[in-house]
Amino acid sequence: MTERPRSDDVLSTLRNHPDFVSGADIASSLGITRAAVWKQIAKLRDSGYTIDASPAKGYRLTATPEYSIEEVRAGLGHLKFFPSKNIRFFTSLPSTNSTAAELVASEEADGLIVVADHQTAGRGRLARTWFSPPGVNIYMSAALRPDMPPKDATILTLLAGVAAASALREQTGVNIRLKWPNDLLVGSKKLGGILTEMRAIPDRIQFAVIGIGINVNARIADLPVDIHTLATSIADEAGAVYSRSMILSALIKSLDTWLAILSTQGKMPVISEWLKLSCTIGKTVSVLQGNTTVTGIAEDVDTEGFLLVRQCDGTLCSVYAGDVSHV
Ligand code: BTN
Repeated sequence: MTERPRSDDVLSTLRNHPDFVSGADIASSLGITRAAVWKQIAKLRDSGYTIDASPAKGYRLTATPEYSIEEVRAGLGHLKFFPSKNIRFFTSLPSTNSTAAELVASEEADGLIVVADHQTAGRGRLARTWFSPPGVNIYMSAALRPDMPPKDATILTLLAGVAAASALREQTGVNIRLKWPNDLLVGSKKLGGILTEMRAIPDRIQFAVIGIGINVNARIADLPVDIHTLATSIADEAGAVYSRSMILSALIKSLDTWLAILSTQGKMPVISEWLKLSCTIGKTVSVLQGNTTVTGIAEDVDTEGFLLVRQCDGTLCSVYAGDVSHV
């Protein structure tokens, strides 16, 4: 008995017994003491599980929380990039991107996920605020040590978009499209966004943090009035409330799958899937890049993931960053 029991082992045992199961049976099936079982039951209750206890019959699971680390882990299975123990759950944080960066910088861990139910200083691209109320949405950051130069980082944002859009489409049926480089849209409204940040030495990324925010069960009418016409949520689009645990598990699995594709097959499969999901290609766009505005038709993305814009004088301009407006 060298390893400490995890509360999700006790949880699986409870799930396998729809009726009561005794503490002694749980203890012997997991090879732990009854005191350890009791500690894990207390931890599960703290996470929002309702567990009946009867001195004669043992324990019975009667309700699961809508959002908990145990529920997320239960949906994951084996992942290549994110070991289950590296997935950290917080009630409230200033920003999951900041915490993920601190953790990956201070630990040897590669492949770390930070999730929060609420952010007090959630941030978006171009120093914007990411409104992050508790109890309704997903705020997560994945920290990695990819073996690539900083100029390749755009592919990580496109990859996160592909992973998020495919997982959410599969789970909810909502027709999510990708706007270059980092927006998840339904029609012209924003359902989610991606913020990739990194620390690099001149020619290598030391670590990258991919932050993903998804409006899941927020009702946009309940949010600040200035975002009413700009934002949407899965609940508003699908007309139903979803389990964030289920959606987050699917999102993490999809991220893991696409990172495996990138590491074994390179950027092209990511780019071709991004193109299929994109609503930017073929549109007239206006991009503020530094001090200049590039206007033209978004034709393609290149092998780096940069947007190729055909200007009215016929020249093709490669856009590597900036705020894109669909005109
Ligand atoms: C954008 O569209 O501008 C990007 C939004 C990214 C928001 C997410 S929420 C989780 C992570 N933590 C943050 O502070 N930001 C990202």
